[in-house]
Formats: sequence, structure tokens, C-alpha cells
Amino acid sequence: MTFSRRMSRAKPSAIREILKVTERPEVLSFAGGLPAPEAFPVEAIARAHAQVLASPAAPAALQYGPTEGFAPLRAWIAERMARRGIRCRPEQVLITAGSQQGIDLVGKVLLDEGDTVVVENPSYVAALQAFESYEARFEVVGSDDCGMRIDELEAVLLRSRPKLIYLVPTFQNPRGTTLSLERRVRLAQLAAEYGVPVLEDDPYGELRYRGAALPAIAAIDEAAPVIHLSSFSKTLSPGLRLGWAVADEKTIRMLTVAKQAVDLHTGSLAQHATARLLETFDYDAHLKTVCALYSTRCEVMLAGIERHFPSGTTLTRPEGGLFVWARLPSGLNAQELFVEAMKERIAFVPGAPFFAAAPDHSTLRLNFSNRPPEAIAEGMARLAGCIARLQDQPRAAVG
Ligand SMILES: Cc1ncc(COP(=O)(O)O)c(C=O)c1O
Repeated sequence: MTFSRRMSRAKPSAIREILKVTERPEVLSFAGGLPAPEAFPVEAIARAHAQVLASPAAPAALQYGPTEGFAPLRAWIAERMARRGIRCRPEQVLITAGSQQGIDLVGKVLLDEGDTVVVENPSYVAALQAFESYEARFEVVGSDDCGMRIDELEAVLLRSRPKLIYLVPTFQNPRGTTLSLERRVRLAQLAAEYGVPVLEDDPYGELRYRGAALPAIAAIDEAAPVIHLSSFSKTLSPGLRLGWAVADEKTIRMLTVAKQAVDLHTGSLAQHATARLLETFDYDAHLKTVCALYSTRCEVMLAGIERHFPSGTTLTRPEGGLFVWARLPSGLNAQELFVEAMKERIAFVPGAPFFAAAPDHSTLRLNFSNRPPEAIAEGMARLAGCIARLQDQPRAAVG
């Protein structure tokens, strides 16, 4: 078989490859971005499916459906988006198979070979992978505790005339940081001024544990071309594979045409059942429960790192989302730590694959949502033991 030229450049996702080993039951893993299984509203989801299948809508739920998505679900999302300040009609919502598909479709409709995408450094790996598959080039902009360095962005816009700016402004993957209001406003201004679309990837926006909510970039300036993506993966269940894109109608039409060739439409049964669920189930109360659960886990992880990791370790302090990002004291390599930790059946994700340029090998991403507090406390202590052993080994310094 002769594969396409495109595939000769395609790399498997370093993270998904790592997850194959780290998600074995015997491993205490902080690697995946997995929600807590006990947070899944199993009974409510089962009931919603049963109700749909017992109703006159059953044939439609088992039939092919429109590419744009199930109308009542699109309407619910449009209303939800309005509550977050994003004014849109249901026609401006496309239901996708998770927000990952939204990222890929945006790549498909916007990017030609050699086009430039501006990304944070570090960035969400599977977005880099999607854009690479459309043979894009990356321009990186640094990030700090307030998210993407928007002060660096204008020079990049002038220099490389990008086709797209991609970012996760709220509780970023991998760093857990949030773009400040001032930077959001400036980003929207720059996008409008230079006519460069922003892809606002927001799967974590509703998982806030502390601090005041910030407006989505799509809610700031109607003149700014913004495609907003979100998902039920982290709030209900990733197995539903339900996400959405919100944009102007012309962009939604292009994304819809691109999606027609990919999968015809997102699964009808999941869409019908979720629409039914949202009619009867208190989604906001559910979100509160999930946020309370994750808030505790986040605090336990931060306390464990502070207590046990060596001095000189730096870490982010997320106000929501699923991840803490840590930087080991100089000279320590997170990939070497990963090997050491896996001997002890502890896992995390080394930070280097998240960088589109100039990887920082001393960084690591730790997920706090998927394990109970006791396991997180134990895991951080054991991981610190692995760091101590690594510190005792002779090794070359890393950059
Ligand atoms: C930033 C970001 N975007 C998109 C996704 C994909 O999510 P979904 O399950 O909605 O496809 C993830 C999943 O972890 C993510 O972290």
C-alpha cells in the first residue's frame, strides 16, 4: 500500500501513545485528561436513552440525521451560549463528534499546505496534530500565568500573516492557566483589525472552582471572527462524543460541508438522548457537584506537590479545568522522571510533546480529576520519591 504524502509526515500523538501504557489498571495515573467516572450521571443518561427509545421519536433517533445536528440540541446549546454572552441562533451551531472534530474541521476548511497557525507554546497536542495533518506551519507565542502572551501576538500577525490563531483561553490544556480579561479584549481587537480568525477551544469553561467567570472571546466583539468550540465530554461524559462549534452562518455552512464527507452526522441516538436528558435533568446542579469534586482534588494535588516536591519546583494554580503544570528544578528531565515513575507504576505526561517549538524538558502535566483525593495525596508523595531518586542519579543537564 502506498500511503499519501500527507501521512508520511503524520506523527502519532505522543500523549495517546503514552496513555496506552499509563491507563492500565495497575498504574496510578495522572496522565490522561479523564473525567472522574463517579461523576458520570449514569442513571440519568440511561433513563434518557430509555425514554427516547420508548417514544415516537425512536425511529428518528436510530435513523440518519442532518449533518448540522439534532435541532432541539442545537437550540439548547444556542441558549446556553447566550448565557455565556455568546449571541447566536441555532443555525450558528454545528453538532460535532466531540470538540476534537471541531478542531479538525476548522483545519480542513481554513488551512492550505504551508499556511501558518499561531499557537500557544505549549499547546493542546491533538490540535497540533490536526493542523499538522493539513500541512500547516506553526508560529508560537509564549504563555505565562495569564495565558497567551497577547503582547507578542501583533508582531507575529504582521510577520507571518497567519490563517488562524488557536488557543484554549480558559483552564488551558496543558497548563491550566486562564487568559486574563485584558488579554481577551486585546485578542478580539487584533483578530478584528487583522481579520485573522480565532479558534477558541473551550471544553473546560464551565468547570470553574474559584475566581470570577470571564467572558468567552466569542462574546467580546462581534467584529472579531471567532469560532467557538465546546463539548459535553468534561461535563457529562466523553463517551457520548458530543461537542459543538459556534460561528457565523457562512463558516458553519463550510464546516457542515466538510463534515458531510467525514461522518455524515454525529450519532443520532446520543444527540436525541442528550437533548432529552437536558430537558429533565438539572445540568447546573450536576455541574456544581462536578466542580465541588474537582475543586477538592485540585487543592489536594497542589498541596501534595508543595509539600513533597523539591524546592525550586514551580507550578500553575488553576482556577478550574483538569490540569496542573509543574516545572522541575533545573537539570531534571521529566521524560527521565516518567521512566523512573513507571517503574513504580505512577504516571503523568512529560511536557515536551505539548511544545510546537523549543520544548521545555523539565515540565510535566498532572491530571487531578480522575483519582480520589487519597490516591492523589499518595501519588504526589510517591512521585516526589521518584524525583528524589532521579536527583541522586548522575545525568546531563537539560535546557
Ligand atoms: C483543549 C482540548 N480541546 C479539545 C479536546 C477534545 O475533547 P472532546 O472529547 O470534546 O473531543 C480536549 C480533550 O481533552 C482538550 O483538552
